[in-house]
Amino acid sequence: MRVAVVLSLLASIPALAVEIDASSGLAKNPGWEQVRAHCGGCHSYALVISQRADRQTWLDMIRWMQATQNLWQFDAATEAKILDYLATSYPPQPNRRRAPIPPGLMPGTAEPLQ
Ligand code: HEC
Repeated sequence: MRVAVVLSLLASIPALAVEIDASSGLAKNPGWEQVRAHCGGCHSYALVISQRADRQTWLDMIRWMQATQNLWQFDAATEAKILDYLATSYPPQPNRRRAPIPPGLMPGTAEPLQ
C-alpha cells in the first residue's frame, strides 16, 4: 500500500515539470507557438532561451530588433502573448553572472607568477 502511494506520487512529478519542445528547445508554456513562429527566423532559439529578463526588458529587446534588425511589427494581441510567454518562462534570475574580477587579477595589474 505504501509502495503504491509513493509510486503514484513519483509518477505525478513529471507532470509538474514544463515540457520542452524538442526541436526549438522552447518551454511549452502558453504562447510558445507564437514565439516559435516569430523568434527563430533570424537566430537560434538558443539566443532567446539563454536570456533572462522582465517583461519591460523583453519589450526593449523586441523594440531594439524592430528598430535595427528588421524584426517585423506585431499586432497588440500577438505582442502581449509573446511578452507574457517570455516574462513567465524566462524571468530575471539572480546570480546569473560571475562576481567582478578582483582588481589585482585584471590583466596588467597582476603580480608576475614566480
Ligand atoms: C528579423 C530578424 C529577427 C527576428 C525575427 C528576431 N530577432 Fe532577435 N535578434 C536579431 C538580431 C540580428 C540579433 C543580434 C544577434 C547577435 O547579436 O548575434 C538579435 C538578438 C536577440 C537577442 C539577444 C539580445 C541581447 O541583448 O543579447 C534576444 C534575446 C532575441 N534576439 C530575442 C528574440 C525574440 C524573443 C524574438 C521574437 C519576438 C526575436 N529575437 C526575433 C534579429 C531577429
